[in-house]
Amino acid sequence: MIDHIEQVLLDADAIRRRTEELAAEIRADYAHDDLMLVGVLKGALMFLVDLARALALPLEMDFMATTSYGPGAESSGVVRILKDLDTNIEGRHVLVVEDIVDTGLTLRYLLENLWSRGPADLRVCVLLNKRKARKASVQMDYVGFEIPDEFVVGYGLDFGENYRNLPFVGVLKEAIYHRVRPAQPLD
Ligand code: IMP
Repeated sequence: MIDHIEQVLLDADAIRRRTEELAAEIRADYAHDDLMLVGVLKGALMFLVDLARALALPLEMDFMATTSYGPGAESSGVVRILKDLDTNIEGRHVLVVEDIVDTGLTLRYLLENLWSRGPADLRVCVLLNKRKARKASVQMDYVGFEIPDEFVVGYGLDFGENYRNLPFVGVLKEAIYHRVRPAQPLD
């Protein structure tokens, strides 16, 4: 697995330190609110778990799973909800936890959907921001790292469902990326 990585961008230590910084900011902002973390599966799983532990606040967690409609490796912006929240978020203070914002289309769709459910407050914490790839301007309240426009894997992020369990974020070798394209759901 390691030999498929071109370069380690963020090692486990850097991720841990930044997660603790973000947690301190979030803890101060939500000191008087009932916080509900909404993790977007599967990519945000590692980050959500580590962030929740670092937060050390009373909080609830819920999860959504989404996938992009349409062919091609790029996000189409039309998102299908594979798993919805178990909780009604009306009147709740919700913090969406995402792995990466690339074009921004997925997050924009998700936020529109969640705002329509009437939360008291809806904010976004994203681990990785690929600003250069942005197509839709999107709300991001807490950002872990700005990264270059490269395809990255590890710490929850996958290519064809592999590499999620790497403890770091690394750039996938182009040879691997071009060998096979991950299957895209076509509805
Ligand atoms: P967006 O709609 O283009 O912002 O895409 C967001 C989603 O695409 C993320 O939640 C990831 O699932 C996936 N994605 C975007 N860039 C990468 C990457 O570099 N590695 C792995 N997944 C990515």
